[in-house]
Amino acid sequence: MEMRIPFSAPEITEADIEAVVSVLRTPRLSMGPRMAEFEESVAEVAGVSHGVAVSSGTAGLHLCLSALDIGEGDEVVLPSFTFIAAGNAILYRRATPVFADIDPVTLNLNPESLEKRITPRTRAIIVVHTFGHPADLDPILDIARKHALPVIEDACEAIGAQYRGRNVGGFGDLGVFAFYPNKAITTGEGGMVVTHDSGLADTIQALRNQGRRAADDWLEHSLLGYNYRLSEMNCALGVAQIKRLGGILETREALAIRYSKELQKMPEVIVPPLIIEGGRLSWFVFVVRLASQFTRSHRDSIWQQLTARGIGCGRYFPPLHRQPLFAEFAHPGDDLFVTERIADRTLALPFFNRLTEEQIAEVCGTLQDALRSIPKRAAQADSAESGRKT
Ligand SMILES: Cc1ncc(COP(=O)(O)O)c(C=O)c1O
Repeated sequence: MEMRIPFSAPEITEADIEAVVSVLRTPRLSMGPRMAEFEESVAEVAGVSHGVAVSSGTAGLHLCLSALDIGEGDEVVLPSFTFIAAGNAILYRRATPVFADIDPVTLNLNPESLEKRITPRTRAIIVVHTFGHPADLDPILDIARKHALPVIEDACEAIGAQYRGRNVGGFGDLGVFAFYPNKAITTGEGGMVVTHDSGLADTIQALRNQGRRAADDWLEHSLLGYNYRLSEMNCALGVAQIKRLGGILETREALAIRYSKELQKMPEVIVPPLIIEGGRLSWFVFVVRLASQFTRSHRDSIWQQLTARGIGCGRYFPPLHRQPLFAEFAHPGDDLFVTERIADRTLALPFFNRLTEEQIAEVCGTLQDALRSIPKRAAQADSAESGRKT
């Protein structure tokens, strides 16, 4: 259904269009100068020496696990509260996803929960910068060092986000960005793996290009590879967009502030933090949380009411351990309390560069009406019961 206020929308300028069209006037439509330029630009943003453009963020995550030679019998710890892609990449390698819980404020991997999930079979950690909020990397990197485990940063939602004054993506052994049209920077479809490690970068370059190592001929394939290349048209769009990254991040931050102001008058709605000490958010989506007296069915009813009034919104994220695909990896003893309580009450509101103040006011007004339709209930026992708050 077409939404009057869409959930997300790319911002494509005349300069973006011209950048893509100009590629079509050349004979080089793949593996050319725009790819090299885009790779350099993204590597620079992440503060690393290598960027490898790939066809999607999911492809990038897959290649990271391939390059680290993670396979059957290996465990990879990741948050359950995330998009399906990281979990799928683990399954592509026939490895075992092990789900850890999240922090209730940042919605990112909780270091204590991470450490509890490490076993002798653990081979890697995937840390996600959820909704553009940088994960608390110091304790996570300490744990990784202590157990000699590589860290993959899933920075697909977080280009330009900062942790302790440095942009995310370059803290771990490998980082991945994604450029689907709902992202801050888009290439239509696309992704980028970034790393400081030239050996890993060489392997990922070969894997995305049918397993051809740099020294191989075009019809010589040293590795079992994939066609995960990103075309020159996509890369040209990425180059044009990334030039505006600073302005785009500011615009999105201003929208988040605007939403927070509008929502201040609704005590039933918990807004995400706007400021983080020593860091910066890269606003991917604006996800609010209903207060703890609300249930999943209340949230779903509110989501339905907004959708019915032409306002696009999303229930981000249904946790991976509740997905049918991952049921066999969910164990009753897993402590995913915060994930489960929070995922039931999150609602992502419309969020894109050209969202207007009037549209934000309309979204918030409609949300208020929808909240009024839910019968008032006292704070429920389930969060109080265990003494744990979300
Ligand atoms: C956290 C996260 N990881 C990975 C991906 C996968 O990116 P792509 O859609 O480009 O495959 C996404 C995309 O939305 C994402 O949000």
